[in-house]
Amino acid sequence: MQPMTTRATQFAVSLEEVSQSYGEVTALDGVSWGFRKGSLTAIMGPSGSGKSTFLHCASGLDRPSSGTVRLGDLDMGGLSETELTRLRRERIGFVFQGYNLMPSMDVERNITLPLSLGGRKADRRWLDEVVHRVGMAGHLDRLPARLSGGQQQRVAVARALVTRPEIVFADEPTAALDPRSAEHVLKLLRDAVDEMGQTVVLVTHDPVAAAWADSVVFLSEGRIVDELTAPSAATVLAHWGTL
Ligand SMILES: Nc1ncnc2c1ncn2[C@@H]1O[C@H](COP(=O)(O)OP(=O)(O)O)[C@@H](O)[C@H]1O
Ligand SMILES: [Mg+2]
Repeated sequence: MQPMTTRATQFAVSLEEVSQSYGEVTALDGVSWGFRKGSLTAIMGPSGSGKSTFLHCASGLDRPSSGTVRLGDLDMGGLSETELTRLRRERIGFVFQGYNLMPSMDVERNITLPLSLGGRKADRRWLDEVVHRVGMAGHLDRLPARLSGGQQQRVAVARALVTRPEIVFADEPTAALDPRSAEHVLKLLRDAVDEMGQTVVLVTHDPVAAAWADSVVFLSEGRIVDELTAPSAATVLAHWGTL
């Protein structure tokens, strides 16, 4: 387990005793964890184990029933709704299973949306770099409906990176993709960590996807029950069997 006694600033995001309840259901049960800066972490667990709840709490999409979530040193619980919305847009990147692109906007406008919503302009060199990385340079004026699923998800990855966020959260980003497109998206996330120092958290149920991570955190019934470092698909599967 990652010791929480070390200074919070070595973590992009840290959680302290975070719980989330929905009526009678305890979806997250006193979770403490830190996501080390410049690392790729996979979160695994059975359906209903609390993976999405964990991600939503860690990323400021939801407020936990109790406990503390920090972005760097900043306690997100102390922010107003407006401040939290702005923080999510400017300092956190999101990738979802269903891509969540705006259908009426072309690729370039989709990628720069987190900037334009905040009244900011794209740094052209950084935008070019991100677009080039995801392999969409020749498609900037296309609408999402004209793209394959893999291409749409690469646009979503570019949109997540365009603000140079402190952390990127991806909830089952490859679940709807064929294996080859999935590998492309996972490699983009891996490269963002290795070449840009990005911090990435990836929720997945796929051992092959989890094997791209530096470490795998296993959730069961709303608790972290194990961690596996330097995973391979085989060790993830074997580990899974012992839980
Ligand atoms: N908005 C919600 N309202 C009520 N129950 C919820 C809600 N979101 C999640 N849950 C419950 O919390 C538990 C964890 O769900 P979730 O975090 O989605 O798990 P996972 O992503 O691992 O499948 C489940 O029992 C689920 O039914
Ligand atoms: Mg889920």
